[in-house]
Amino acid sequence: MNFSTNIPVVTIDGPAASGKGTLAAALAAALGFHLLDSGIFYRMVGWKALEGGVSLDDEAALARLAAGLQPRFDGETIWLDGREVTLALRRQEVGTAASKVAALAAVRAALFQAQRAARRAPGLVADGRDMGTVVFPDAVCKIFITAGVEARAQRRHKQLIEKGLPSNISTLLQEIGERDARDAGRDVAPLKAAPGALEIDTTKLDAATVLAQGLAYCRARLER
Ligand code: C5P
Repeated sequence: MNFSTNIPVVTIDGPAASGKGTLAAALAAALGFHLLDSGIFYRMVGWKALEGGVSLDDEAALARLAAGLQPRFDGETIWLDGREVTLALRRQEVGTAASKVAALAAVRAALFQAQRAARRAPGLVADGRDMGTVVFPDAVCKIFITAGVEARAQRRHKQLIEKGLPSNISTLLQEIGERDARDAGRDVAPLKAAPGALEIDTTKLDAATVLAQGLAYCRARLER
């Protein structure tokens, strides 16, 4: 029998740089739950494809890469194929490659079980694009985060600079716009709010306010 469905899940979906990751980490800490950053799996496939010269539309080859991923997580540090890739995975070109491989059904299918396996007691906070719609449709608490594209580009710019990674605001604006269109327009698991999800527009909100809203909503649902 599968008892994992009794374990509560909180899903946070939304477009690039909307504040999902920040909210997910803070909610997981406040609730004492595990954390799943599902985008990291797509980024790992994108990184491996760029490194290995695999075409970003070769669905069969990319699905094999996805099925064979053997990452090692050590706190916040991520190792892949014997290399420390924590920062490399955050690069803008890796995000773009991730969004291209994420549109392929065979890649998504290959990553599905690894994401489901993250559901462990006492609970999970999962962030991504399809957490509430496809991967954890029975989640007890679903949140959909949005923010204007300008605000998101500014935030991502700040994050990249803080990490010492290259960033250009006008390129970012264009890339984020293209990524949103690709993520929302694809046939499989498109970016959209799950039915009944709490929608928060973070354009004019700081992280503490978003956390307070999300936490109040989740606590009320978890206590039901
Ligand atoms: O969230 P992050 O920016 O790291 O995700 C990188 C890319 O991975 C997204 O642009 C999206 O195309 C893809 N992704 C996805 N489904 C998820 C998480 C990420 O398609 N659940």
